[in-house]
Amino acid sequence: TILILDFGSQYSHLITRRCREHKVYAELMPCTVKLEDIKFKPKGIILSGSPYSVYGEGAPHVDPAVLELGVPVLGICYGLQELAWNLGGKVDKSDHREYGFAQVQISKLGDNGTVDALFKGIGDEMQVWMSHGDQLSEPPPDFHVIGRTKTAPYAAIAHNTKPIYGIQFHPEVTHSPRGREVIGKFIIDICGCKQGWTMEEFIGKEIARIREICGDHGRVIGAVSGGVDSTVAAKLMHEAIGDRFHAIMVDNGVLRMNEAKQVYEMLNKNLGVNLTVVDESDLFLSRLEDVEDPEKKRKIIGNTFINVFEAEAAKIEAAAEEEEKGGTHKGRVEWLLQGTLYPDVIESISFKGPSATIKTHHNVGGLLKDMKLKLIEPLRELFKDEVRALGRLLNIPAPLVQRHPFPGPGLAIRILGPVTREQVKILQHADSIYIEEIRNAGLYDQIAQAFAVLLPVKAVGVMGDARTYEQVIALRAVQTEDFMTADWYVFPPEVLRRISSRITNEVAGINRVTYDISSKPPATVEWL
Ligand code: XMP
Repeated sequence: TILILDFGSQYSHLITRRCREHKVYAELMPCTVKLEDIKFKPKGIILSGSPYSVYGEGAPHVDPAVLELGVPVLGICYGLQELAWNLGGKVDKSDHREYGFAQVQISKLGDNGTVDALFKGIGDEMQVWMSHGDQLSEPPPDFHVIGRTKTAPYAAIAHNTKPIYGIQFHPEVTHSPRGREVIGKFIIDICGCKQGWTMEEFIGKEIARIREICGDHGRVIGAVSGGVDSTVAAKLMHEAIGDRFHAIMVDNGVLRMNEAKQVYEMLNKNLGVNLTVVDESDLFLSRLEDVEDPEKKRKIIGNTFINVFEAEAAKIEAAAEEEEKGGTHKGRVEWLLQGTLYPDVIESISFKGPSATIKTHHNVGGLLKDMKLKLIEPLRELFKDEVRALGRLLNIPAPLVQRHPFPGPGLAIRILGPVTREQVKILQHADSIYIEEIRNAGLYDQIAQAFAVLLPVKAVGVMGDARTYEQVIALRAVQTEDFMTADWYVFPPEVLRRISSRITNEVAGINRVTYDISSKPPATVEWL
């Protein structure tokens, strides 16, 4: 395992991805982690970039004990400056940021002109991506230069005798075309990591872990929504513990049009798991009445889900007891399955400022404090595309694996005002037209996620000879690798024209359609 310490750079999670692309397992932890809290022995450590300046107030610093583990260390950008700060080099505060491409000249070392192991086979120079304010003005003692650029004489340095490296550029971004190789040299050649982390291996290990957690009798209950994550998680649970896993599809009143029925049929046919549908739309919608605040909506839905699951768990236990007819009842429902993914985990552990910020959990939207069920999260180490690969290996049909994600709080976070049955109906209708036209145009698989949003504003229009005063629909479609950053999708104009014309003509209550052209950041994918 490679330990990546996050100092708050927007690229930190990419370092994790690049390591895994080399089939080496990597884990991201906040830079403030204490040595005793690291439960594994890393084979190498990578220090990420950061928006901070090492001498700045509140600048994050690593526990020096971590650097003394004796394993290879690679500092990237701020990570390089952090090494200098710790080991006696000098960092210059600069007035301007260097942001963009640069050429690194790779230094020839010694008499026979070899290059450092970090750059072996790269050639004389390589294009890299720079994004920094400060830079090194003096390397720490016992370090030598292994690469420079026109403006950065210490763009890459290495310790004279120990495997400690610092680089000013960002090898983890795709704008550094050879960056992946550089990361590979570090983790494979220098740290000696084996390239054994594959999805097949992950499945085997995860199934064994689930079996151990659940023991011989324990039961697990879990939500399925028809989304990729819950489907894959459910299938994995079924492989591990068979019918002791109970999948529940909850109609929470804020699903897409006909979703509950369609998803039930699809999952029932394809998954082979214990599957129950419960319609709790009245309960959810009554609790959502008059609520506009997005975080409150998330919390209410998350809490209501837990209430519903605890009630279902009790029913399952009662049925199991009945079946055993007075025998020792061992099959307690102890666990709640969650399809939490790595980006959710990163968002809650990542170093975001002078103190680590914990974000309301994405998938759960706030758990009840006294929840009886314990969480089991088999996907928490994976990125979305890894979950899809896992789904394919588990023989989940392609249309299911390729579905766009749909958030747990559903349409409630796409209705910007209060959530009512009427508003849900309007949005469901507009959204179904939007998705249908995207499919008809053959564009569904080119888009990572597309959905409609119902705005709480009214605009004037004209229909026939009459004035209308109705609501506005915003359309969103994004392309993204991992949902941490995203670009808006460029539709062919005729597709947008058809969608807009159908929505304004067919959906009662809507007289205007707009298209959202914001990227993430600074926007997010969802509007709430
Ligand atoms: P944002 O809006 O954070 O969305 O850029 C990134 C991805 O996460 C999904 N999302 C959620 N999923 N519960 C979920 O299960 C949530 O509360 C939630 N909020 C956002 C969003 O649909 C997108 O795919």
